[in-house]
Amino acid sequence: MYRRSYLQIPGPTNIPDPVLQALNHPAINHRGSEFAELLAHNVRGLKQVMQTENDILLFPSSGSGGLEAAIVNLLSPGDKVLAVNMGVFSQRMGQIAHNFGASVTWIEKEWGTAVTAADYRAVLEHDLKYEYKAVFVTHNETATGVLVDVESVRRMLDDLHHPALLVVDAVSSLAISDLQTDTWGVDVVVSASQKGLMLPGGLSVISVSPKAWAAQERATMPKWYWNFSTMRQRMAIGQMPYTPAINLFFGLEVALKLLQEEGMPNVFRRHTRNALAMQAGLMAMGLELLVENEAERSPAVTAVKLPANIAYQDLARGTEQLGVTIGGGLQRLEGKIFRVGHLGMLHEMEVIATLGALEMVLHKLGHDLQLGVATGAAMASYLR
Ligand SMILES: Cc1ncc(COP(=O)(O)O)c(C=O)c1O
Repeated sequence: MYRRSYLQIPGPTNIPDPVLQALNHPAINHRGSEFAELLAHNVRGLKQVMQTENDILLFPSSGSGGLEAAIVNLLSPGDKVLAVNMGVFSQRMGQIAHNFGASVTWIEKEWGTAVTAADYRAVLEHDLKYEYKAVFVTHNETATGVLVDVESVRRMLDDLHHPALLVVDAVSSLAISDLQTDTWGVDVVVSASQKGLMLPGGLSVISVSPKAWAAQERATMPKWYWNFSTMRQRMAIGQMPYTPAINLFFGLEVALKLLQEEGMPNVFRRHTRNALAMQAGLMAMGLELLVENEAERSPAVTAVKLPANIAYQDLARGTEQLGVTIGGGLQRLEGKIFRVGHLGMLHEMEVIATLGALEMVLHKLGHDLQLGVATGAAMASYLR
């Protein structure tokens, strides 16, 4: 029997029907005027969503491609960078830089905690010669459900008068959590299509500040596909250096319209409300969240410790049978946690349905809970 499915993994997210319909479009010439207009229109919309006047570049790639693009355009082999290991995705930024020959200093954090401005400061305050060229921040660590305070990292850099570039991975925070690119002086923001932008994967979105462009001119890491200058030149004439995933641009136009109609402050508020309701429901079932510090909990995804005697595969299979897909732990958290995504197109009833499925399956698997506690706690959270 056909039924609506609830894709509650931390991305890709559910695609709104109007976006799906827009994606269903005949092919057009990617070197023609229709594409040029669509591209310009989408770049204008993205500037609003990214809260920036900086240049925006779009690459036909996943978010990881966007991260690699940022790194090879900003840095030269041997450059010192400050990276964080607090989960799979923060680790990825440092790993890419390392593979391209950067000298990476790691800030090690327990997975499930957030890096703070003080952690960065502890390294940078000794860097009196300003040898660090870039500081990497993963705004939302999707592997653990942790949100980082980007603004405080900017304040710390200003306080130290440190000129390092501030490079932010916003793959799972753009159009989810407030990220004031220009006000906070974020030099490069990297995001992707399949999370807050509610599209399929395949498009990375990058904003580049004038200071980052100056670094780009000096950077010698090898690149061809990812060359920012080539992309900027081609985008200026309404094209790309190669064939983009054209239909994503039709979807993006509609997704941006949906975000604009809702208004970005409302989009952020909706995510926070949904996250709080989801977390209230999960905790009401006696489950323990991975992130202990409430202030560090993500509005996009919640990681939950698996109760003893409940295997992730059994839980995931059970919810899947009810049409609800959840995510598992990655790397060292595999088999220890499950993750529930609450990002993108999501409203009260989807949160309640997801909690309902988890409640039913956990109950069936022998977890001690009163049916209705999770959904009830979420409803109470919404009504507060
Ligand atoms: C914070 C973050 N960074 C990077 C990535 C990598 O993105 P992609 O899978 O599109 O390459 C993800 C994917 O989930 C992510 O959540």
